[in-house]
Amino acid sequence: MGRPLVVGNWKMNGSRDSAALLASSVRQQWQSCGVEVSVCPPYVHLFAVESALGGSDISWGAQDVAEWREGAYTGEVSAQMLADAGCRFAIVGHSERRQLLGESDEVVAAKFEAARGAGLVPILCVGETLEERDAGITLSVVERQVQAVLSRVGAAGLDGAVVAYEPVWAIGTGRSATPAQAQEVHAHLRKLLVAASPALAGVSLLYGGSVKAANAAELFVQPDIDGALVGGASLQAEEFLAICRAAACRV
Ligand code: PGA
Repeated sequence: MGRPLVVGNWKMNGSRDSAALLASSVRQQWQSCGVEVSVCPPYVHLFAVESALGGSDISWGAQDVAEWREGAYTGEVSAQMLADAGCRFAIVGHSERRQLLGESDEVVAAKFEAARGAGLVPILCVGETLEERDAGITLSVVERQVQAVLSRVGAAGLDGAVVAYEPVWAIGTGRSATPAQAQEVHAHLRKLLVAASPALAGVSLLYGGSVKAANAAELFVQPDIDGALVGGASLQAEEFLAICRAAACRV
């Protein structure tokens, strides 16, 4: 297993000043203790975050990426531009984008490939809705979402990537999956990846969905949970850092 990883997804929050302040507070109070930490601000705050975090061991990333390389795509931001802004990660296929912006499995796979192509580490988000869970098809939904990416980039394309299991019903609801529910899906994802190639055994599997300081430790002790993708709780330095520290139990 690799280093535990905790990524903050700031979503569409904050000003330039508050982004810089949040990033520098995290930087000032963080001692790495073997855990990798990253934050994903809105695009327009990437440079403020770069100024705050440059030279530290905390990285930053983007919440999305264009599926195209360059050209006449008004409003889009390419993977190469993100790499230029010092990004290490790009989140792809977040459920808010799948649901609110209609991103299909194929579009997500194209974004994944674009991110890889520019040297970014894609964080592929997968997860079922409440209806899908109630219908008992959770595992087949996440399987379909991963398979779309495998079909596009092959097993080698997933080597070194990150997969985040984020049940849609747990995002921003305060209702996290139980550690057992999360572990079940993570174990399935691990099996799926290893079946595609044994080299994918080390792919980092993050859990996301109402992770907070109070429930982080019980999630991180699960054998297949390698870290977390944190939304709301990443907007407060203290709370986010407490989650990052909890991940040190996996070191
Ligand atoms: P949440 O969001 O922690 O606010 O539930 C997680 C995410 O959407 O990545």
